Amino acid sequence: MKKINIAIDGPAAAGKSTIAKLVAQKFNMIYVDTGAMYRAITLYYIEQETEDFDRLVKEIDLKIVLDNGQRVILNGEDVSERIRQNDVTQKVSYVASKEPVRTFLVNEQQKLANEKNVVMDGRDVGTTVLPDAELKIYMIASVEERALRRLKDNELRGIESDLESLKLDIERRDQYDMNREISPLVKAEDAISIDTTGLTIEEVTNKISELAKSKM
Ligand code: C5P
Repeated sequence: MKKINIAIDGPAAAGKSTIAKLVAQKFNMIYVDTGAMYRAITLYYIEQETEDFDRLVKEIDLKIVLDNGQRVILNGEDVSERIRQNDVTQKVSYVASKEPVRTFLVNEQQKLANEKNVVMDGRDVGTTVLPDAELKIYMIASVEERALRRLKDNELRGIESDLESLKLDIERRDQYDMNREISPLVKAEDAISIDTTGLTIEEVTNKISELAKSKM
């Protein structure tokens, strides 16, 4: 079988990471969550209280451990759970709009995918990080359904939230991500759109797996 890269992009809470993980497991590929990397820099930004983004990316010690599920290590500490908290979610789109941050992370992400065999999810994977990915998916779902899924997710993680605030947060982040100057969230021309509203996780995973097989 040929080694390939799969890019999965789409708006907030569309189910990208759940599906990407399952597809990666199925084909023994490596799953890379690029959003977690933006979240880690955002946590560092909150801690450092500076708007000097050149300095932030120069000084940050960020390690992405990819075996057995992705872990994010910031300055020696595992922050994989911490970066899901509301304070980080509130600020991440702002930090992700900054040029030094994007240049730094896109470079790191391209290094991670160098050997192929990754399923990478995010906002600009198909357009900017891996423009040559063999399979590109643009995953969408209604705001209502995305907010409901995130509510369940947060419950499992022990993060307090309510449906209305989640809807507002999802819409606000989508607007910010779609309208920023550098590599905004947009469907790559050669990406296949999948609307997951009303579909089960299994249905979406199977659909993408079939598409992946045809490229291998
Ligand atoms: O995927 P997740 O919701 O964790 O991403 C958090 C934020 O990180 C997004 O709302 C977006 O602002 C930013 N992001 C990005 N480019 C990516 C992945 C995430 O700008 N490739």
